[in-house]
Amino acid sequence: MIDVHCHLLPKIDDGSTSAEQSINQMRIMAAGGVTDAFLTTHYMSGVYHYERADYDAKLALMRGLAKNYGVEINLHPGFEVYLNSHILEDITSQKLTLGSSHYVLLESDLNGLDPDFYNDIYPLLRQGFRPVLAHAERYVSIMSKISKARELIEHDVYLQVNSGSLLGQYGEKVRQTAWLLVRNGWAHLLGSDDHGRSPYGSYFQAIDLLREDLDEQAVDLLTKDFPQMVLHDQIIPLKYVYFQHSHSHSHSHSHSRSRKNLWERIFG
Ligand SMILES: [Fe+2]
Repeated sequence: MIDVHCHLLPKIDDGSTSAEQSINQMRIMAAGGVTDAFLTTHYMSGVYHYERADYDAKLALMRGLAKNYGVEINLHPGFEVYLNSHILEDITSQKLTLGSSHYVLLESDLNGLDPDFYNDIYPLLRQGFRPVLAHAERYVSIMSKISKARELIEHDVYLQVNSGSLLGQYGEKVRQTAWLLVRNGWAHLLGSDDHGRSPYGSYFQAIDLLREDLDEQAVDLLTKDFPQMVLHDQIIPLKYVYFQHSHSHSHSHSHSRSRKNLWERIFG
């Protein structure tokens, strides 16, 4: 599995407060099958502001520590960029993308996406960046009107869901919204958004719940295949369809047939 969203680069934002804390979490991640993680530090003008070179130096340090402690996990650079009208400049000059891809993890005002949201997104799209909205289920405008998520996808915005949201860690409304996104096939990536303090096990717990609810391969899309495509800077399909368990009639025959259809639909 690849965690596309976590704050485990220590002492740079509101995430992990020490290298020890990060190593502890990474040990749990690796033991549970997380092979790769993007360390998506907040980047917000005036609040979390740093030079890319400083970030890279900290990342190199963290990679060395993980190696020294025998924690087998590939750490990739990443940023959770707070969207504003002049952010393109920083994204370009500081290379605030996920790994070396064109995907940019973005956050905005949770109390409702800024009315200028699309105006801020369009310049990124025009430059070939692929915006990913972090924890899409936590935005009031999406919670109150789920079709807003579809609208975002139609505007070429990818949606990332937090594992904790699926477990109800941000409240019932967020939980319901997260499940709607996942079940509708409107979620592209799953992330822990771990800040170093919560038990990382909830990421695996959420994945177990997903496996009960969705086809195994659908879970792989969110946790392995699509993140892998981010790593390799391949284009994730904005629209995809997968099989959802029908609890009333779950014949293994229809199951395997649907699996085949899934891949035909996406890559066929
Ligand atoms: Fe985050």
